[in-house]
Amino acid sequence: MHIKEYLTLGIESSCDESGVAIYSNTRGLLADELFSQIHLHAEFGGVVPEIASRDHLKRIQPLIQNALKTADVDISKIDGIAYTKGPGLAGALLVGASIAKSLAFSLDIPALGVHHMEGHLLAPMLENITLPTPFVALLVSGGHTMLVDVKNIGNYAILGESLDDAVGEAFDKTAKILGLGYPGGSALAQLAQSVREEIFTFPRPMINKPTLDFSFSGLKTFARNTYIKHPDNKPQIAKAFEEAATDVLSIKSKKALQHTRYNNLVVAGGVSSNLVLREKLDTMAQKIGKKVFYPPQQFCTDNGAMIALAGSLRLLKGEQDSTCAIEIQPRWSLEEL
Ligand code: KG4
Ligand code: ZN
Repeated sequence: MHIKEYLTLGIESSCDESGVAIYSNTRGLLADELFSQIHLHAEFGGVVPEIASRDHLKRIQPLIQNALKTADVDISKIDGIAYTKGPGLAGALLVGASIAKSLAFSLDIPALGVHHMEGHLLAPMLENITLPTPFVALLVSGGHTMLVDVKNIGNYAILGESLDDAVGEAFDKTAKILGLGYPGGSALAQLAQSVREEIFTFPRPMINKPTLDFSFSGLKTFARNTYIKHPDNKPQIAKAFEEAATDVLSIKSKKALQHTRYNNLVVAGGVSSNLVLREKLDTMAQKIGKKVFYPPQQFCTDNGAMIALAGSLRLLKGEQDSTCAIEIQPRWSLEEL
């Protein structure tokens, strides 16, 4: 049977990366353009919302032109436009939403607001694999840490989430304490790699609680107090933090798999690029006879490809924004989908 090609333009602007991609339902990802603003925010030690919005304004249109050129696609051939509607920074979301909706209006094609975390969750599919439902998703980013029961694509129930800092946020705050810059998650992981034998052991918060919720803010405080006492032991502190945080994620993921009796775990979001976490999850899953799926490394952190893909699946089902008004949802639970 011949399937008609459907081209989706995806736009991501929820935080500090401008991402634009073109996804084809028949040929996969045709273009993926990314501009990271990280260097603009680094000197402030965190994302400055006003700077983020202004830079998205500057970058997105040229990124769209580059994506069309890379994909060798004329703009008139685009069938639908997906953009990140939330959760994220309001001003930053508004830039992507305004561009997407105006373009869709002028081309007379549908636009659809996509949930950023659904984008992360489906990112493993960018490697042309089907995610076997049902599965447990472990979503670990700078803004979220949660375990999700995914009965079908689009049907999400939150099993547990962080009661305070997201795990990526805790990585970043600990990295800042150690003077590793912003966002320091991957710098912290790199520093920890040099440690052969650990000398500090940090607590594993919440592992004995019956729920699947997390708490990471205490771990960062533990790191700060250890650093005050041992300022010459940065790699050891980085290692102790990474071991504790990844242990908790692995232990809770195992509990979620056992609780749901599902056979598959999908891990996504910026922290899913952490190699210690991947190793622990793989070992845990192997021991209990389960399978783990990750996005390709370049699609763990924010990108336009995951938004184009998530949008494509929904647009093809006939979903689209009901008005041409520009609407965003800075706070938005996956369960509302
Ligand atoms: O998904 P993402 O790009 O943005 C959000 O939606 O938040 O995730 C960014 C987060 C940051 O906190 C960053 O430090 C963290 O992912 N991260 C890492 C690693 N690479 C990125 N954390 C730990 N180890 C890594 N290798
Ligand atoms: Zn993200």
